[in-house]
Amino acid sequence: MAPVSTRLDGNILVVTADNPPVNALSAAVRGGLADAIAQARADAGIKAVVIRAAGRTFFAGADITEFGKPPVEPGLPEVIDLIEQCGKPVVAAIHGTALGGGLEVALGCHYRIATATASMGLPEVKLGILPGAGGTQRLPRVIGVADALPMIVTGAPIPAGKALAKGLVDRLTEDASLEADAIAFANEVAGCTDYPISSRRSDKTAATPAGVFEDYRAANAARLRGQDAPQACIEAVEAAVSLPFAEGAAKERTLFLKLVAGAQSKALRHVFFAERAAAKIDGLPPDLKPLAIAKVGIIGAGTMGGGIAMNFLSAGIPVVMLERDQPALDRGVSIIRKNYDATAAKGRMSAGQVGTAMGLLTTSLDYAALADCDLIIEAVFETMEIKREVFARLDKVARPGAILATNTSYLNVDEIAAATSRPDWVIGLHFFSPANVMKLLEVVRGAKTSPLVLATGMALARRIGKIAVMSGVCHGFIGNRILAARTREANALLMEGARPADIDRVLTTFGLPMGPFQMADLAGLDLGWDPAKSSGSTIREVLCERGRRGQKTGKGFYDYDEKRNRTASAEVDAIIAEFAARSGKEQRVIDDQEIRERLLYPMVNEGALILEEGIAQRASDIDIVWLNGYGWPAWRGGPMFWADNIGLDVVLKGLEKHAPHLTDFRLSGLLRDKAAAGGRFNG
Ligand code: 3HC
Ligand code: NAI
Repeated sequence: MAPVSTRLDGNILVVTADNPPVNALSAAVRGGLADAIAQARADAGIKAVVIRAAGRTFFAGADITEFGKPPVEPGLPEVIDLIEQCGKPVVAAIHGTALGGGLEVALGCHYRIATATASMGLPEVKLGILPGAGGTQRLPRVIGVADALPMIVTGAPIPAGKALAKGLVDRLTEDASLEADAIAFANEVAGCTDYPISSRRSDKTAATPAGVFEDYRAANAARLRGQDAPQACIEAVEAAVSLPFAEGAAKERTLFLKLVAGAQSKALRHVFFAERAAAKIDGLPPDLKPLAIAKVGIIGAGTMGGGIAMNFLSAGIPVVMLERDQPALDRGVSIIRKNYDATAAKGRMSAGQVGTAMGLLTTSLDYAALADCDLIIEAVFETMEIKREVFARLDKVARPGAILATNTSYLNVDEIAAATSRPDWVIGLHFFSPANVMKLLEVVRGAKTSPLVLATGMALARRIGKIAVMSGVCHGFIGNRILAARTREANALLMEGARPADIDRVLTTFGLPMGPFQMADLAGLDLGWDPAKSSGSTIREVLCERGRRGQKTGKGFYDYDEKRNRTASAEVDAIIAEFAARSGKEQRVIDDQEIRERLLYPMVNEGALILEEGIAQRASDIDIVWLNGYGWPAWRGGPMFWADNIGLDVVLKGLEKHAPHLTDFRLSGLLRDKAAAGGRFNG
């Protein structure tokens, strides 16, 4: 069936695109739209046009699978120009999400009607490109630079209500009546000739205050550092103000073509598809229907338990939280409330929503309260003995068919499962801190975890807005195991003469939000440190003993002022030098390139080991873990994609060169073989 069909409703031509799942603007859809406009022009009886989409959404943008392939006519910019120059009023009828090229089509239309639940945006920047079909030129002309600039540079969509307020849509309606209301709208404007044409408007752009671009660049410099697309977006919007439409559009095209061929966009497109691939588990029966989760139990109301609970409460799922004693329970509940109140204070939740979420939370000190839960997540101390004891007790109270999950960071899920009589119902759900904020969830498949339990874990993640990646059982799973490889090398580098600030700088320059020593200072060096057992055997222990416990004590690996600005510490340098001397390590000057290679290549090697051991299903899953759990810059595509790009032979040579210095290093056979064959991890 043709992906675009037309029908007449009186004098109105109703054009319907139907290209599941998301009505991407493929070549066939573009051709269909062009034909429909030609039909409208040719038929004098047609007085106005409605463009709508069948299925779950209006056009979700250009077809991303076509990027990097030879272009097929007609191009989207041409199709949108045709719509705009139709000579008859065209009404876009928007439901679901009008994104990217989808919103650009709507901007080419003369009027826009949207359902109240719709949202619209130009997310191209997230794919490392910019709106390339006139979006950077038309949006500022329709809503003004002040509103258009952040939409284009951040890619964040806006809901229909806001779009109405800003003049991006003309009317709101309901899903059930969208088509009828769009046709009614078209009848109202049918035959008129003074309909608004986005590309010809100048009222909004003319009102652009001086200095708006400079101010925006300055305010966002840190956030946009190193990224090509946001800079190009700003440049294109500047052109919308300073140039006539045709010239601005030509500039947009030039910038678009450059970006789409660039390495950053390739990486970000990889991320887009990798994220969707991660949701799929190979080998599961396709008809497996995830279990319904209507009530969740959480054991442990500490840092993680509280954050985990918020995910479910916010999604409208009742939670019962269990602790060792009442004070711990009260503390946990009050932190949850404080977090919700803070969200409300920022205007991101209403008082009513906070009330609803808190109303779904109950607490108990008695395991019997968990008896009717469909899923119980354990988040108690990271000790095998305690975890096994908790699971043995759970086994006695949980109803048959309840999923028993552990949030352990490192421990063996199979050993925990073996404390129950139903290891097939046990799974790891490894949330990241802060659990109510961080997007990543490692879903850990134990040796006996049943496919149904696994499928339910993955589906649940989506329901609470997480990006799930399946991991097998190993020490630290995918993310922390790779982190450990990096930490080993960071510590070794310190002993050889690199300073904490050198190591952190190399990583932040690479694009990570912070380096290991900044992170350690932020988290607190005394995490897991016991003064009674401290023997000064590690640098970290000595720092703690000297009161250098991180930002909270004003000093850690760095010294901090009242504003938490950090400076290098001579005391820390001396402590490190002393350790190095004691272990016979000669300190030397280490250049940035060596630091970078010695930190990042072992991570890639660890990723390769994880892959060859079958802990991760695919290389791109490892990328998704590091992007969403550890702040790996998306525009570098994740550690495995990055390694593919620089060449696995280069990584291998680097590892071989540094091998004498590397700690506990074991070369991955997969990496060695792929490097020899000129292969890649990601397809
Ligand atoms: N092109 C090709 N395939 C697309 C696509 C697109 N624009 N958008 C989604 N898909 C595919 C996905 O890969 C997925 O395929 P799969 O089932 O084989 O894994 C399928 O459609 C469903 O997608 P989701 O799982 O993401 O579905 P959701 O319902 O969760 O989300 C959505 C729907 C919000 C529309 C989301 O898919 C999305 O954000 N899509 C991308 C939007 C986008 O970036 N648009 C801009 C494109 S670039 C552009 O328009 C350039 C222009 O300016 C010239
Ligand atoms: P925490 O110390 O903040 O909280 C643990 C809570 O469990 C405490 O409130 C304690 O009173 C309670 N508890 C201990 N034994 C209990 C028992 N037998 N019954 C009921 N409650 C009990 O610890 P945190 O940081 O929340 O960690 C919990 C788990 O989550 C650990 O396994 C940890 O490895 C894991 N984790 C921690 C992350 C972090 O960044 N803090 C990140 C991801 C996982």
